[in-house]
Amino acid sequence: KTVALVQSFYPHPNHSLMEVLFAASNARDLNASKVILVAPYLAYLREDKRVIKGECVSSKIIGDLLSKNFDAILTVEPHLHRDNLDKLFTIPVYGIDISSLLVNYTKENFRDCVIIGADRESYKLVNKLSLNPIILDKKRKDSFNVSVSGSYKIPEGKEVLIVDDIISTGSSMIEAIKFLKLKNVNCLAVHAAMIGGALRELEKYSNKIITTNTISNETNEIDVSNLIAKKLLEI
Ligand code: R5P
Repeated sequence: KTVALVQSFYPHPNHSLMEVLFAASNARDLNASKVILVAPYLAYLREDKRVIKGECVSSKIIGDLLSKNFDAILTVEPHLHRDNLDKLFTIPVYGIDISSLLVNYTKENFRDCVIIGADRESYKLVNKLSLNPIILDKKRKDSFNVSVSGSYKIPEGKEVLIVDDIISTGSSMIEAIKFLKLKNVNCLAVHAAMIGGALRELEKYSNKIITTNTISNETNEIDVSNLIAKKLLEI
C-alpha cells in the first residue's frame, strides 16, 4: 500500500525530521509500495544559497535526505518563487497552490485595503490579491534583521494589508510597518513560524495577524486541509 506520512515540522524541526525519516524508512522496510511525505510546512527550504561564508546550504541537504527516503512530497508554499525545487529534489514535489483561499479571504475581509508585498519574492502571491500591489524592496542583513528602502505612495488613512509567505522572526513585517510609518495595518502570511516572541512583538504594530494552518498558531484563520486532502487523493 501507499503510505502517507504527515509531519508538521513544528515546533521542533530537527526532532520532526528524524521522526519522519525513521517512519519512512520503517514503512519501506515493511513493504510500503510508496511513501509520500505530507508536510504543510516544509522546514529548512529558505536557505538556498551560502549567504555567510562557510555556512551550510540547508535546503540542499534537506533535498538530498528527503529524496532518498520518500517517493513524493506534498507541501504548501515551499519558497517556490525561487523555482529551484528541481535542483534540490530528485523526487516529485507538489507545491499546493492555496492562493485561491487567500484571495477569497482578502476579498471578504480586506476588500478596500492597500495590498503590500513584504519583499520582491512575494510578488507572485500579492499579484493574485491585487491588481496594483506595492512591493517593497527588502534586504536581509542577518537572521533577525532586515532593511527596507525605496519610496512608496500609500494613500493617506487607507487600511493596509502586508502579505508574505512566512512570518518567522517578524522582522520583515515590523520593518515594513516602521519604514512606511503605517498605523492602520494588518498582516497576512501563509506560514506562522513565529520564532520566539515574534507574534507578541508584531501585535504591537498591527491590528490583526492572519495565517493559514500549515503551522498551528492562534493566528490561523485559513484552513488548507481540504486542498491538501484533494491533492493527496489526486496523486
Ligand atoms: C524571505 O524570503 C521570506 O519570504 C520572508 O519574508 C521571511 O522569511 C520572513 O522572515 P522574518 O519574519 O524573520 O522576517
